[in-house]
Parts: sequence; C-alpha cells; structure tokens
Amino acid sequence: MRRFAKKDFPVSEIRRFLEPGPIVLVSSAWKERTNIMTMGWHTVMEFAPSLIGCMISGSNHSFDLIRKSRECVINVPTVDLAPTVVDIGNCSGSDVDKFAKFCLTPAPAAKVKAPLIAECFAGFECRLADARLVERYNFFVFEVVKAHVAPAPRYPKTIHYRGDGLFMLSGRTTARWRKRFKPHML
Ligand SMILES: Cc1cc2nc3c(=O)[nH]c(=O)nc-3n(C[C@H](O)[C@H](O)[C@H](O)COP(=O)(O)O)c2cc1C
Repeated sequence: MRRFAKKDFPVSEIRRFLEPGPIVLVSSAWKERTNIMTMGWHTVMEFAPSLIGCMISGSNHSFDLIRKSRECVINVPTVDLAPTVVDIGNCSGSDVDKFAKFCLTPAPAAKVKAPLIAECFAGFECRLADARLVERYNFFVFEVVKAHVAPAPRYPKTIHYRGDGLFMLSGRTTARWRKRFKPHML
C-alpha cells in the first residue's frame, strides 16, 4: 500500500481536505423579506431527531434573518445550478432580492415560513434547536422538521467546495465495499 511523504501545511488551510459536502443553498425569511445564501460549512450531528450544525457568518444578511425567525430551509442544488450557487455566495441579500436576481422560484414550505427553492432537488425545513454556540462561534444547530426530496435522480450530481475557488462534483456511486460495511456501526 502506498505511503505518503507529507510536508508541513498551514492549519488555516486544512478545511479544503475536510470540507463537507454538498454545497447547499440556505433560504430564509423574516417579516416581508426572503433571502438565500450559499453554504459549505455544515455537518450532520444526530439522526433522530435530525440535527444539522452549521456556521453562518455574523456579517451575512442571512444571519440576521435566521437568528430572528429561528428557521430556514436547507436546499440541495445539483451541478446545473453551480454558476448560480457561486454567484449567490458572492452577493448579499441586504443589497439584492436573490430570488428575483437569480430567477429562482420560492415554493411554500409546510412547517416554516422560509421558502423552499423549487429548482433544488431537495429541501429540508429547519427550526433552530440550539442557539448556545451562535454568539461564540456563529454556529447554529437546526432540527430538520420536514424533508422534501425529488424521487429522481436517485444519486444527483452535487457540488462540493475544495476551498480557494475550486469545486468537486460528486462522482459515481458504488456498492463495491458494501459487504465490509456494518450498518449497526454507523
Ligand atoms: C462555495 C461557497 C461556500 C460558502 N459557505 C459559507 C458558509 O458555510 N457559511 C457562511 O457564513 N458563508 C459561506 N459562504 C459565503 C456566503 O454565501 C456569502 O457571504 C453570501 O453572500 C451571504 O449572503 P447574505 O449576506 O445574503 O446572507 C460561502 C460562499 C461560497 C461561494
């Protein structure tokens, strides 16, 4: 088996190896305003209840809308939306209406006021479950209270961020190692 000779690496850059995926679009609403932000820094925290932790910078317009409403929708886009996903992450909802600017369709959610994005293949309605880390780390813990997923494609091509403006696209799905897999361990 190959061994890797490693070199010193800046700790501030290691995120590019651990960056979770896929990139998601977080939609939010407060009073009459809606917004969308691009997000890469999220993690699964628990299955039941379904908890997702994520970092939303305090300088983002979404931060205010989500902190006030205590809700959002995590939408999962596919590769065809990649340019839009990047552009949404490069402007602020305090200046533009991102649904209008990017021709995205807000669709009503069942349990939260934030809209789903109709052009995304999945949308997870979230309520803030724990705000204790928001002040210190801008880290929100959400509970997914309702999930909407398109039945096809079964394994959609998602977009993953590698840092430094580089992206990776999800590849083929394989059952090659399934026999080694112990479901009770995961
Ligand atoms: C690929 C990508 C991933 C991003 N991930 C995050 C993230 O996880 N958390 C965050 O606070 N900002 C992230 N951003 C930056 C926000 O999307 C960006 O600041 C956005 O414009 C905020 O919009 P808003 O001010 O309308 O809320 C990311 C941007 C890109 C392009």
